[in-house]
Amino acid sequence: MKNILLLAFMVLLVLTGCNKVAPVKTTENLKAGIKGETTASAKYAAFAQKAREEGYDTIAKLFDAASKAESIHAANHAKVLEELGEKMDEFKPEFEVKTTAENLQAAIDGESYEVSTMYPQFLADAKTEKVDKAVKSFTWAFDTEKKHQQFYSKDLEALKMNSEKNLPVEYAVCPVCGNTYDKASMDAKCAFCQTDQAKFVTI
Ligand SMILES: [Fe+2]
Ligand SMILES: [Fe+2]
Repeated sequence: MKNILLLAFMVLLVLTGCNKVAPVKTTENLKAGIKGETTASAKYAAFAQKAREEGYDTIAKLFDAASKAESIHAANHAKVLEELGEKMDEFKPEFEVKTTAENLQAAIDGESYEVSTMYPQFLADAKTEKVDKAVKSFTWAFDTEKKHQQFYSKDLEALKMNSEKNLPVEYAVCPVCGNTYDKASMDAKCAFCQTDQAKFVTI
C-alpha cells in the first residue's frame, strides 16, 4: 500500500511538471499569419505594377513599401513558428488585380480586417498561451497594418481628387519590424522596435 501511494505521488509530480499547455491556437494563428502576410506581399507587388502601368507612380511606391513590410512580417512569424518546432504547410498566394482604385479599396479592406479582427484575436491567444515571441511579432504587424490602412486611405482619397502627385515620393521600411514611414517624416529610431533609421530600407 505504501508503495502504491508513493508511486501515485511520483506520477502526480511528473504530471504537474508536464502541465505546460502546447500553444495550439498560436501555432495555427502563426500559420494563418504567414499565409496572410505572404499573400499581401505578393498582392501589393502586383498592385504596384498595375499602378505604374496606370501612371500612378506615387501610389505604386506605397504598394511597394507595404509589400516589403508584409514580407518582413511573414518572415518574423515564420521564425517564431520554427522556434515552436512547427513547419509551415505549402500554399499558393491567391488574389485578383483590378484597377488601382479598386486595388486600393481591396488593400484598405484587407488591412481593416487584420487591424479590427485578425491581429486582436491572435494577440489575445498568444497572451493566453504565453508565447511572448508571437506577441511581439503580432504586435509589430498589428501596429504596422494600422499605418498601412491610413496610408492607403489617403492614397484612395488623393486618387479620387486627382492629387496623387502630392503623395509621398519615398518610403522607409524598418527591416526588423516592418514599420513603414513616409521618408520625409521618419523617426530617428523605429517607434516600434528602436532600430536606427540608418538601417531603414528606402523604397
Ligand atoms: Fe499591411
Ligand atoms: Fe522597427
